[in-house]
Amino acid sequence: MLITYGSSSEALARSVAKESNIPIVETARRFFPDGEQYVQISGALSGEDVVLIHSFALSPDTLLVEYLLLVDAIKSGGCRSLTAVIPYFAYLRQDSRFKPGEPLSAKVFASLVEFPRVDRIITIDAHLHRFRTLSELFHTPSLNLSAMPLLADYYLKNFGNNNTVVVGPDAESEQWAKVVAERLSSPYIIMEKVRLGDREVSVRGNASVKDKNVVLVDDIISTGMTLVKVIRMLLAEGANRVDALVTHALLVEDSYQKLKGAGLGNLISTDTVPGQHSKVSVAPLISRAIKNLP
Ligand code: R5P
Repeated sequence: MLITYGSSSEALARSVAKESNIPIVETARRFFPDGEQYVQISGALSGEDVVLIHSFALSPDTLLVEYLLLVDAIKSGGCRSLTAVIPYFAYLRQDSRFKPGEPLSAKVFASLVEFPRVDRIITIDAHLHRFRTLSELFHTPSLNLSAMPLLADYYLKNFGNNNTVVVGPDAESEQWAKVVAERLSSPYIIMEKVRLGDREVSVRGNASVKDKNVVLVDDIISTGMTLVKVIRMLLAEGANRVDALVTHALLVEDSYQKLKGAGLGNLISTDTVPGQHSKVSVAPLISRAIKNLP
């Protein structure tokens, strides 16, 4: 087996290679003067089971083209199988035609990812809501791993579970909040969110969190406004402290400053989107999954 990577996940791929003791094959990407991309794989892939690790965070459209070029380059090298590990999978929140004239972006993007025919697709905490499972999105065999147990273990080790309550900001977060609550032996509360615009949400719910240490749980922070609204509400209800566990910290624009301004304590995320809050690596998760491939 060999591991290779796209430009968005080089460090993570190196961690997975180290963790699983599997050799890494280097890749290079550059842009032509007109904005088109060029990729190159340097290594013999013939007869190998290749794992390509490549997240689609923050510039998904460009990263998708890089992925398509990489898959073509890898397959032309005569590998035996190709597993695409996409730690952060983009476009899944547009999982319905919310207004007339809209595309079903989740399905379109998923179709493009499986278009060059890989043998399997692995992702982490995919935003599955109206599509309940990956098999509703892909024909390709697929696997959705979860970083929530790792995030919960990090929290437990560093902050304990004294007087903790887990809060999920919206209906879809229940799947993740439940896992963390179980790991922390704590109760959980799910709020109700209505999205009013790209940077605007309203949140309501019965937040009985007086004097509690709240652990907010979500899959993605993008503009941060979902968590900003919830943090303000929880602190107004008398929460002692509010920390957040989030798998994919996209943290666009000045979202982190907004979260701190609202009173957020610690933000703990993973390296599916590498950044200063990536305290937890998903490398062991990916490593275990690829070692157990059929
Ligand atoms: C959507 O339901 C997701 O689970 C997140 O809650 C959402 O993407 C967060 O977005 P933002 O940080 O822009 O509020």
